[in-house]
Amino acid sequence: MSFKAIIALSVLGLVGAQQTLWGQCGGINWTGQTSCGSGAVCTYLNDWYYQCLPGTSTSSRTSTSTSSTRASTSNTSSTRVSTTSTSSTRVSTTSTTSTRVSTTTSSPSSTPTGRVGKLPALGWNSWNAYRCDINETKLLNAANQMVSLGLKAAGYQYVNIDDCWSNINGRDPSTQQILPDLNKFPNGMASVASKIHSLGLLLGIYSDAGTKTCSGYPGSLGYEAIDAATFSSWGIDYLKYDNCNVPSEWQDNWTYPDWGQSNSAIRYRQMGTALAAQSRPIQYSLCIWGAAQVWTWGASVGQSWRISGDSAPTWSYITSVIDRNVAIIDYTNFYGRSDMDMMEIGNGDLTLAEERTHFLMWAALKSPILLGTDLSLLSTDQLNIIKNKELLAFSQDELVGAPAKPYGTATTTPPEYYSGKSSKGVHVFIMNTSSSTSTKTITFANVPGLGSGSYKVHDMWTGTDVGTFSGSWSTSLGSHDSGGWLITPA
Ligand code: GLA
Repeated sequence: MSFKAIIALSVLGLVGAQQTLWGQCGGINWTGQTSCGSGAVCTYLNDWYYQCLPGTSTSSRTSTSTSSTRASTSNTSSTRVSTTSTSSTRVSTTSTTSTRVSTTTSSPSSTPTGRVGKLPALGWNSWNAYRCDINETKLLNAANQMVSLGLKAAGYQYVNIDDCWSNINGRDPSTQQILPDLNKFPNGMASVASKIHSLGLLLGIYSDAGTKTCSGYPGSLGYEAIDAATFSSWGIDYLKYDNCNVPSEWQDNWTYPDWGQSNSAIRYRQMGTALAAQSRPIQYSLCIWGAAQVWTWGASVGQSWRISGDSAPTWSYITSVIDRNVAIIDYTNFYGRSDMDMMEIGNGDLTLAEERTHFLMWAALKSPILLGTDLSLLSTDQLNIIKNKELLAFSQDELVGAPAKPYGTATTTPPEYYSGKSSKGVHVFIMNTSSSTSTKTITFANVPGLGSGSYKVHDMWTGTDVGTFSGSWSTSLGSHDSGGWLITPA
């Protein structure tokens, strides 16, 4: 049938409803079309997502709504995005086998690539410190400092390379593989990975869901399978996936009733499914700047999603991104969380009080915490902030995935009072948004999970007990400073 004839028949409503090329055609909870138009095959990518990919045989998929335990090798006859895999050497205790963790029904507790990333990532990223001026030496210095400064012992794991690591002139002309810039990384990326792994750390890399990265290096759109396989073969453990240089045919058309079906979601899902097809667990960070209502679908695609443009070492950035996160706080939990962007501690003119609040709120709201400075320049006070045991324990609680949330009636933007549970009990976090020292009062009966009785107050910054109080407890907080307390029945 000619193209014109198909158009004519479809205008007359005589062609059965079929999904268009690249559209979704099945997966858990999918209720839309399950067969693809001519020239496309409905293809299993993962339990959550079947997609119409270019091809000739016809096939359709009914949605699965029941639980399934699936190893990451496909058990369907449909086409896989990639079958390339390499053996991997994990340095953590995580096993290298690729059995999917999840056996969930409608609300997955683990995402397609969710073999890692249950808890917010802790680590370091090159961008805020060095921008494009990166190389193997700087990266390995940061990794060695993570060990020598006690950051690894405190729980920091990832050493992440940001933009500008690859050969800006393009891919390998015969294999189409992305290539490292050998001036910056003369020994290649597998060698970097093995050096990072030998320190007991994990290596992250960066690419983009467009034709080029934000700094103009090769992007991965259309090369997802080959890039995911390449990253896996190098021993990469984490991918930050940016959102620059999206061609016009991939732009969102602003009319999606479900943003999980937007072109943005498809672009990010294509890489997510390619990563999930690798034998190596690779944590997946969606650097999508809060576009396409990513918080509504991000947890079905990766483990974190940026909710803002780029961070800056300013109080106004810190407060504005906290406020943005508060509006969508219920979307953060195990395996999927809003990312308030990389840390600015050590950069610009932030006061120590502002750096304390920066760290405390990233921990309390369970954002990834990726340090973004030359670690060798941090002061003892700054190191003590980022190594604070009790705040890190709240962020990394294995039993509670939900972040702290505002309580009471907020009179400021962002709110100043937050509470949340950990496996130790109920915590309260307070930030002073005003430009002067203020008295802050915790009225126990107003805190979810507490009542009007007597409580022990324990200071998370100092790790010391403050005392036992009945009804309420007040403290003084300096301008832009913050505190966190564990509050348990007396
Ligand atoms: C974007 C991202 C930043 C950084 C740069 C690199 O702006 O949001 O975090 O990765 O690109 O070019």
